[in-house]
Amino acid sequence: MNTDWLEKINAALSLEDVETLRIDIFGKKGDLTLEFAKMKDVPNEEKKAFAQHLNEQKTLLSEALESKKTILLVLALEEQLKNEKIDVTKFVASPQSGAIHPVQFTMDRIISYFQNLNFSVEDGPLVEDDFYNFEALNLPAYHPARDMQDTFYTKDGKVLRTHTSPVQIRTMLANKPPIRMIAPGAVFRKDFDITHTPMFHQVEGLVVAGEGEISFANLKYVMVEFLKHMFGDVEVRFRPSFFPFTEPSSEVDISCVFCKGEGCRVCSHTGWLEVLGCGIVDVNVFQAVGYKNVSGYAFGLGVERFAMLIHKIGDLRSLFESDIRLLGQFR
Ligand code: DAH
Repeated sequence: MNTDWLEKINAALSLEDVETLRIDIFGKKGDLTLEFAKMKDVPNEEKKAFAQHLNEQKTLLSEALESKKTILLVLALEEQLKNEKIDVTKFVASPQSGAIHPVQFTMDRIISYFQNLNFSVEDGPLVEDDFYNFEALNLPAYHPARDMQDTFYTKDGKVLRTHTSPVQIRTMLANKPPIRMIAPGAVFRKDFDITHTPMFHQVEGLVVAGEGEISFANLKYVMVEFLKHMFGDVEVRFRPSFFPFTEPSSEVDISCVFCKGEGCRVCSHTGWLEVLGCGIVDVNVFQAVGYKNVSGYAFGLGVERFAMLIHKIGDLRSLFESDIRLLGQFR
């Protein structure tokens, strides 16, 4: 070998240079390969020394190539890191963030309103006993609200609660009067169209105090204040109605939030929207939980309906479709 390969390796500036040198030395027609080929012409007694020398050269040169390659790779990486520096302070398009779902938002507003009035927040099971969902609420076995059309029954005779009213019963049984409670949560009915979904949310309310302490006037005052808090400057009207668990009972309307009472498609040209049911707790309900000498009022409302009227959402089902475009509007 006449060439000083070590010097050439040292002088290599790129990985391509190193590769070219490797081929020039170790390739099929490489310098060292050709040297090895001369072995057959070397006299026997010199063969050993000759081979030893070549092997030393081989080790020396391949190590030199490897370390040169490593150095060049490190330099290339350093160069890359220098060029690809990321400016973390630079402006980028903001990522999509989540939002509180309008139903949860509405629920939270209702809950905090009543918490401020010192109501406790109570909970109950979604799969209920007939007793709590119907019987104790003065809904006897023949009552049409128990119709198979409306209620989901489990195989073992329980019901998916059709309203949050059973929590009234559970709370009264677990406590002594006076009681001031709300019960928010999911309820289930066999219903599915533009204004009904098989699962929706209600908030139930119950106030119980001593005999003669609660009147319809108390109920009316709280409902009117609550509805004005939720819907702003609306008219509120009470219509006589019937619920098995309250007597007297009332349905409560607000002036239409879409047309301000003028009359439109949403309010069926009446100018009014029904938003909740309420009344004075029926004596049969108090009897079912063993309460004597008490008086009370109760109310119940649908959270999705409130959310739709607050946010002016047309189709109830869109609240359950998890469409990012709808949710994005509530950020
Ligand atoms: N439970 C009734 C429903 O699901 C709502 C309701 C009406 C609850 C009047 C009450 C009430 O407590 O007094 O339609």
